[in-house]
Amino acid sequence: MSADDASRWDARYADAELAEPSPPDALVAADRSETDRTRKATLLDLVPVAGRALDVACGAGAQTAWLAARGLEVVALDASPVAIDLTARTADAAGVRSRVEARVVDLDLGIPTDLGTFDVIVCQRFRAVDLYDSFVERLRPGGLAVVTVLSRTGADHPGAFHAPSGELRTAFTRPDTDVLFHQETAGQESVVLRRHPT
Ligand SMILES: C[S@@+](CC[C@H](N)C(=O)[O-])C[C@H]1O[C@@H](n2cnc3c(N)ncnc32)[C@H](O)[C@@H]1O
Repeated sequence: MSADDASRWDARYADAELAEPSPPDALVAADRSETDRTRKATLLDLVPVAGRALDVACGAGAQTAWLAARGLEVVALDASPVAIDLTARTADAAGVRSRVEARVVDLDLGIPTDLGTFDVIVCQRFRAVDLYDSFVERLRPGGLAVVTVLSRTGADHPGAFHAPSGELRTAFTRPDTDVLFHQETAGQESVVLRRHPT
C-alpha cells in the first residue's frame, strides 16, 4: 500500500466511532436467504466457538469483536495504524481485548507467515486477488472462510475497486473447498466456503 493510500485510510478512521460487534455480512445474508431457511443449522451456527480466526483488513474491528465474543482468538490485520487502534478499542469496549491481537500489516506483501493457520478467515470489502489462494491454504481442515468484495454486478457506478462479475465464485471453486453460499447482487459478491476436512 502506498503511503498516500495509508494516510487516506488513517484520515477516514480518525474521527470514527467504536464499531458495534457484528457478524460478517455474508453470514447474515446467507441466513436470510431462501435456501438457508430450509437448513437446520444456519451458517452463523457453523462459526466455531473456539480456535483461531483471522480478520483480513479489519477496519474498525466490528467482525473482529464479534468473532472474539464468540470465543475465538482473533488476529486482526490492517495497514492503517488508526484502524488498528480503533479495532483494539472496539475489542476493549466489547470486553474481548484479551482474545484479540491487532497488527499493522500491509497485506500487499501477503499474510505474514508467522501467523500460522486458522479455523475462520474473514475478508470483507477488501479486494485482494493475490491473497485468495492463501485464504484457503491458511485454513485448517474443515475451516470456514467468508469473503465479500465490491462487484460490478448490480453496481450503480462500477469503478476500479469493483471485481469483475463472478470473481469469487471462480477463485474459490476448487477441489479442496465446498462453496456453502454464494451471492452476487447490488454491487457486492460474497462467498462462504469450507475447506475439506481432510
Ligand atoms: C472498506 S474497508 C473494510 C473494513 C472492514 N473489513 C469492513 O468490512 O468494515 C477496507 C480496509 O482495508 C484496509 N486496507 C487497504 N489496503 C490495505 C493493505 N494493502 N493492507 C492492509 N489493509 C489494507 C483499509 O485500511 C481499510 O480498513
